[in-house]
Amino acid sequence: MRTAKLSCLIIIFVVLTSLSPALVSSSSQDRIEQRINSLLARMTLEEKLGQLQQLDGEANGNFRPEHVEMVRKGLLGSTLNVRGAARTNELQRVAVNESRLKIPILFGFDVIHGYRTVFPIPLGEAATWDPAALERSAAIAAREARAAGVHWTFAPMVDIARDARWGRIAEGSGEDPYLGAMLAAARVRGFQGSDYSAPDKVVATAKHWVAYGAAEAGRDYNTTDLSERTLREVYFPPFKAAIDAKVGTFMTAFNDINGVPATANPFVLSDVLRSEWKFDGLVVSDYTAVMELMNHGLARDEADAASYALNAGTDMEMVSRFYNKHGAALIRSGKISTTTLNEAVRRVLRIKFRLGLFEKPYADEARETNSIFTPEHLAAAREIAARSMVLLKNQGDFLPLSKGVKAIAVIGPLADSQKDMIGSWTGDGKAEEAVTLLTGVKSKVSPQTTVRYAKGSELNDNSTAGLDEAVRVARESDVVIVAVGESAEMSGEAASRSSLDLPGQQMQLIKAIHATGKPYAVVLMNGRPLTISWIAENSPAILETWFAGTQGGHAIADVLFGDVNPGGKLPVTFPRSVGQVPLYYNHKNTGRPPDLNNKYTSKYLDVPWTPQFPFGHGLSYTKFKITNLKLSAVQMGRTGSLTVTAEVQNVGKRSGDEVVQLYIRDVTSSVTRPVKELKGFQRVTLQPGETKRVEFSLGPEQLGSYDRSMRFGVEPGEFKVMVGPDSANLVQATFQVR
Ligand code: NOJ
Repeated sequence: MRTAKLSCLIIIFVVLTSLSPALVSSSSQDRIEQRINSLLARMTLEEKLGQLQQLDGEANGNFRPEHVEMVRKGLLGSTLNVRGAARTNELQRVAVNESRLKIPILFGFDVIHGYRTVFPIPLGEAATWDPAALERSAAIAAREARAAGVHWTFAPMVDIARDARWGRIAEGSGEDPYLGAMLAAARVRGFQGSDYSAPDKVVATAKHWVAYGAAEAGRDYNTTDLSERTLREVYFPPFKAAIDAKVGTFMTAFNDINGVPATANPFVLSDVLRSEWKFDGLVVSDYTAVMELMNHGLARDEADAASYALNAGTDMEMVSRFYNKHGAALIRSGKISTTTLNEAVRRVLRIKFRLGLFEKPYADEARETNSIFTPEHLAAAREIAARSMVLLKNQGDFLPLSKGVKAIAVIGPLADSQKDMIGSWTGDGKAEEAVTLLTGVKSKVSPQTTVRYAKGSELNDNSTAGLDEAVRVARESDVVIVAVGESAEMSGEAASRSSLDLPGQQMQLIKAIHATGKPYAVVLMNGRPLTISWIAENSPAILETWFAGTQGGHAIADVLFGDVNPGGKLPVTFPRSVGQVPLYYNHKNTGRPPDLNNKYTSKYLDVPWTPQFPFGHGLSYTKFKITNLKLSAVQMGRTGSLTVTAEVQNVGKRSGDEVVQLYIRDVTSSVTRPVKELKGFQRVTLQPGETKRVEFSLGPEQLGSYDRSMRFGVEPGEFKVMVGPDSANLVQATFQVR
């Protein structure tokens, strides 16, 4: 009888554990907490503070001489920028063999869009509107980084950016909270997998918490002032999505939010992140952000800065050393409690345990040789780069070009630039490994084709010396490709601009080519929306290629010559003029929406209120029709949901991709709502003549909003549902919530 009972219990246990991963992981989590408890009980105050310290290595990946002694004494928990299997192993050996408690070091690095194999900049990847592609590129980046001894990437950057002047718009997924949330989750899944202790995974960071992209005037590091509503509706969603995807760490933002610097902000760090969202991972400050609390005018001195940051919930201090220097005195004086300190240390150790560092502290040096910059990774980089390209204009089906053209000119300051092709934040990527557009074109066209090159102008100076040569080269050719844009360093961190125009003499260059009468396509490379009205109105074709990465030149040639049909869509609005900024599709209607026939409405005297290219815009070499929008109900309750279907048909002659986009509008509500909000999208591939039905589901999560008391829920009334190929060309239907 007892044996029967026992076997019954065993069966129940086996069934439960196999059915419920949560059960298994919660017991392994319990074991981790016990191991942390036992470590904490043995740690000195200095060793605890040491775990909260992260220091920078050298740009080339070496650790610094002082790190060795600090690690030996247990005074350094983590480094950034130290990488390479041999180098990380060398320092790790000191931690594991020579420090008292043998706590391994956590090696962090900015793996933003690839480690050695460089993918398109994140804004470019976002233009794929393809979460699976981003998951794949993050997985490859993780495989390469972990093989090189990196455990922790400071990515994804999930800041919403509505202001193209801000250079870091290049590092995120653009202006939309829904697209941003989907892509944040995809990147976290790619970096971490289901278990980031795996030898090809790293722990990810959702950054910069929070509202960094709302920097006033688009000037980097600037102040932000936002209502709680805007924070919750616009800036929080990608971070929440990262949490739901089980992101391991967060990084604080440099900016202050409504008067309180993010690195010392109890509302965002403690109330929202820890209490509301139950985040149990580690929060690291941004680079010297703890020190900067003095510049913000919050902290009187170093000790005050440490106390503000640690008490608010910033666990680890990057680069400045105030926790280390003043922590002991702050604990003794009671300004920081032992519980607060222990909790911060616990979170650092938790990530180290979850990464499996206590079991496997070292990188496998053989693996590093075999798994970086492989042909498979390069093929993925090329494919994803081609998927990221957005065909902004294609008058008279000028593109794709024929590979058999007799003579082609490749012109422009970006046409043969390796360093710009890989973008501004390239991990361990090497410019000399990048394929330029000129190389891509040369390897694409027929052996009989003559390819001529002229730089034409510099990217950003006033010399017109190269124009004549460019015109000559254009005249001698049948077709011209002009590659213009920004240098890679003109976007990214500390790269704000007050103008969104093409810098230098590049407009003159395009006008000079235009004046030759030769047919030409403009290839843009840039990290932000640019103001390109003249080109949009006058040039036959425009392909937006962002900074496309290691394989960029091949990928652009794949698209220009029709081996790949472009299917990317803009993840940001392109304004006509910088004066329109911030310009985003999900704006409010206002009491006086723009009306050409009425002066006293919301618009400009000198420029239309509409964008140059709307959010979601992108053409193809084929044509699509989106029809038959149907709702499963025209009425529903506040907790109900309905299904939206539409048909998309390829009515052209080539196979191609369309991104079907679903927007809603809550027509009347107790709080004003945006005129459109993206709530679903699907990138589908269709053969000529093929039709597919796409289906979306709308329920409380998609239809809800925050009421005047900041309670989330669906309000009764009319809703519009809009479906189309971009945010401006939509078919619509309505339904009622009762
Ligand atoms: C500062 C940047 O803001 C952040 O994104 C980055 O991760 C750190 N530096 C570390 O390089």
